Amino acid sequence: MNTRLLDALHGRNTSGRPPVWLMRQAGRYMPQYRAIKEKYSFLEMCRQPEVAAEVTLLPIELLGVDGAILFADILLILDAMGRELSFQEKKGPVIGRPLSSPQEVSTLPSIDVEEKLGYVGEAVSLLKNELEVPLLGFAGAPFTVASYLIEGGSSRDLKKTKQWAYRDPESFHALLQYLTDLTIAYLKMQIRRGAQGVQLFDSWIHVLSHRAFMSFSAPYMKQIVEAVQKEAPVILFGKGSSLFAREMAALKPQGVSVDWNADLKLLRQELGGGITLQGNLDPHCLYAPPAHLVEEVHALLQSMNGDPAFIFNLGHGILPDMDLHQVRLLVDTVKGWQ
Ligand code: CP3
Repeated sequence: MNTRLLDALHGRNTSGRPPVWLMRQAGRYMPQYRAIKEKYSFLEMCRQPEVAAEVTLLPIELLGVDGAILFADILLILDAMGRELSFQEKKGPVIGRPLSSPQEVSTLPSIDVEEKLGYVGEAVSLLKNELEVPLLGFAGAPFTVASYLIEGGSSRDLKKTKQWAYRDPESFHALLQYLTDLTIAYLKMQIRRGAQGVQLFDSWIHVLSHRAFMSFSAPYMKQIVEAVQKEAPVILFGKGSSLFAREMAALKPQGVSVDWNADLKLLRQELGGGITLQGNLDPHCLYAPPAHLVEEVHALLQSMNGDPAFIFNLGHGILPDMDLHQVRLLVDTVKGWQ
């Protein structure tokens, strides 16, 4: 069993190089993924445990990364809530029944995660015996999931969400609390089935002011960290995690996954030990000529050299038009570091 990733999450990786895994490591940039996608829609891939397990394994086989992340999506929870989730070519996720009024919040149903999202647990169970690296489960954080539920899909500035939050904070908080309770149950199910760590994606926190982050994101992430970390280590991610890294670290998760704006070494000096830092190569480096990519990877490895609590990752996910050979070069470069 390769335990580098868990060792780093506990601040005790002394193996000479950091563990490496990549956000969106299973996706359209892989010809093998595209071949599976010919046969199923994205949601079908998520809902069939055998297929989700097979896709989860692709980056382990093709890249040799030190960790697997379950193939699923942060928006499956909206599907479980009956909000008619679909994924459309070029448009991304679409929520057929977005939340239309604050009054609706008090009528949201109570959800049995085993019944509605049991297929995710099944995929974890299937993977448990297949893997020689740790398996990470994940969920969206309440603010980000609420934003999709309100916007009805992806949005540049989350205008509707912020209008709602500022006009009617009380119902917005009630919605965040509802999603928090559901997310805790969902993550606990993944851990019960065998996930050895979990990552919480509060992807869109960069749209929030500091004060709004402290009100609408931090308290809910904190509840989830506290409820879940007794059972498995928790990593918090957001675009905006450079800005809010101190505040996220103060929630006492095992790790913070940092976007590419920050100098990780400076952040380490500021935060001290006791927390794992994950990140933070700009994924766009994968478009550079190979020699330049290697230089960028080396620069990050050099700056965090010997840090026992560092996990090499990107500052955000791999994009569909990236080149598998380049991704493999990145992983090989980290694994060759002495
Ligand atoms: O990292 C992994 O490999 C694990 C799987 C994973 C997916 N989505 C698969 C996926 C994870 C961890 C996610 C998280 C997720 N999903 C986030 C948070 C991370 C982030 O990117 O900030 C968000 C915001 C979503 C919502 C979502 N799902 C969007 C906006 C899209 C459309 C993106 C696009 O490029 O079309 C998805 C679809 C999605 N989720 C795909 C994959 C592989 C692409 C589906 C396809 O094959 O068409």
